[in-house]
Amino acid sequence: MWNMIANRIVPLVLILAFAAIPAQTDEFTKADEKKWRDSFMTVVLEGDVLFHSPLGSNSVSCDMCHPNAANTHPETYPKFQKQLGKVAGLRDMINWCIKNPLEGKELPLDDPVMIAL
Ligand code: HEC
Repeated sequence: MWNMIANRIVPLVLILAFAAIPAQTDEFTKADEKKWRDSFMTVVLEGDVLFHSPLGSNSVSCDMCHPNAANTHPETYPKFQKQLGKVAGLRDMINWCIKNPLEGKELPLDDPVMIAL
């Protein structure tokens, strides 16, 4: 008797309980999509301008050493980075470049300039 309850009725009750939860569909409209794309592209374009601008105390900009983002390899992060002596995130390495080649001040990791870069 208890076996039957455990084996059949409990799973059935669980299935019915889950079926009663409204489906969490990810519905969005064309207007949502446009808003997301426009917001994203605004930040991409800001990043493009920043990449070609002197951000530190000298007149050096990212594109001088990384034309067309050459040798930035963002997809390889996080990884051990010799310059920092630790496993670093992409933003840590961007800060290394801001501090050293650009002779600038490191940015907070959530700084809008950092996000755009
Ligand atoms: C004077 C040249 C110079 C400038 C200017 C410069 N970098 Fe770098 N960057 C380097 C060097 C050198 C490395 C180290 C390469 C290595 O060891 O991986 C590096 C590494 C990087 C890496 C990691 C590359 C990798 O393979 O892991 C990123 C990302 C990066 N730079 C982004 C930037 C950004 C963004 C800027 C502008 C804020 C910038 N760099 C400005 C010289 C420069």
